Amino acid sequence: MNSKIDIKPQGSARCDAISFQELLDREEVPVPNYLRENINPDKGDDDLPFERYISRDFHLAEKAKLWPKVWQMTCREEDIPEAGDHFVYDICDESVLVVRGEDDKIRAFVNACLHRGRTLRDESGQSNELRCPFHGFTWRLDGSFSHMPCAWDFGHLDEVDMRLPQLQLGTWGGFIFINFDDQCEPLENYLGVLPDHFARFPLHDYFTGVNVQRIVPSNWKVAHEAFMESYHTLETHSQIMTFTGDANSQYDTFGDNVSRSVTPMAIPSPHISGVDEKTTMRDILELSGRMALDGDEGLELPDDVSAREYIGELNREIFAEASGENLDNATHSELLDAILYSSFPNFQVWIGYHGNIVYQFRPNGDDHETCIMNVRVLLRYPKGSQRPDACELNVLDPTLSFTQAPELGALGEVFDQDIDNLQALHKGMKASKIGKARLASYQESRIRHLHETIDKYINV
Ligand code: FES
Ligand SMILES: [Fe+2]
Repeated sequence: MNSKIDIKPQGSARCDAISFQELLDREEVPVPNYLRENINPDKGDDDLPFERYISRDFHLAEKAKLWPKVWQMTCREEDIPEAGDHFVYDICDESVLVVRGEDDKIRAFVNACLHRGRTLRDESGQSNELRCPFHGFTWRLDGSFSHMPCAWDFGHLDEVDMRLPQLQLGTWGGFIFINFDDQCEPLENYLGVLPDHFARFPLHDYFTGVNVQRIVPSNWKVAHEAFMESYHTLETHSQIMTFTGDANSQYDTFGDNVSRSVTPMAIPSPHISGVDEKTTMRDILELSGRMALDGDEGLELPDDVSAREYIGELNREIFAEASGENLDNATHSELLDAILYSSFPNFQVWIGYHGNIVYQFRPNGDDHETCIMNVRVLLRYPKGSQRPDACELNVLDPTLSFTQAPELGALGEVFDQDIDNLQALHKGMKASKIGKARLASYQESRIRHLHETIDKYINV
């Protein structure tokens, strides 16, 4: 190994720059406990075989042992607001119909006709009954059987057997999760610290203001992992270095299913020097896409105020005005930073008072070399006003850049930079002669954590 690499004892690798916890010490309002948690049990320094991404056998193991056992986010309650609204959720070879009933209850059914097996619905939509397009077998929205043409020919069928098979379903934060395993643990347990950490952010009250989906040319884990570390910022997103504390990030893992990264914003990266506070302020407003303003609009940073304080207060004022919420106790961290949680296996959601970005990555049908990436932004609306409807899903053609979805704003360019790496990663993994990734001890610890949990499903 290169003797210039400064090898520290396992579990102690950290950047020397100011840490997220030290930035919290500067907050002038009480810091909530969830931000003070700093938990990253040592995950060792083992290499990660590329087989886990490129081999068909590994995909088949996930298909047989992982996807049938996990709680997976499908859509949001607001996507199916009225009785009869339904959402088709496909994963590997499975198809699920998430339906809102006349009784307002949401249920998940196997999307397959009990006559000869056709999918009952090809796409999400609205209907007051579930009628198979092949011969017309028809179910009520609660899954009970209604009728079929020529009932005289089916005297051998029992009405009870004709109930649509139902899956486990749970909700949190306005998200609808399903689980194929009838013996699964309750969703509340599975989500671990997530509900507690999001106590200040009632996601179920927010509405989907942006909803963009695209097929991405990589295994689902490659895409998912691109959003689990800030280590790639320096090389991949160089335009944001003047206001992104990439190496200052904190990475936490909570139990098997939840991890987070916190990347401080409105401070320059430790990788660059000589950035003045005014530059940090101007660039974050113009380029981050997550601040209260999308440009500096002639604002002058006073000499004795840091960009982090200034933008923190600016966000506090404008976010509070827009939502009608009292944000006097919001920390600068919650007003500024990239605080990103994931729930195993494929769901990620941001904390904070700006739009909360949500990612979902899953295999594209049974293809392990492409995946479906869905990005939402959850927005607040003024207290007391009517909740806006969720926006329509914008499905981008796989050849299109994310900048073709103008609703993503500055995030479109950032996603394009991320996606550019993914196809090349796949190609390089196949060409590689070492056949494994040599992960960073700390900054890539969430990826180690993801694979540790995958193994708990695969190795049984
Ligand atoms: S396959 Fe559905 S009615 Fe025949
Ligand atoms: Fe990125």
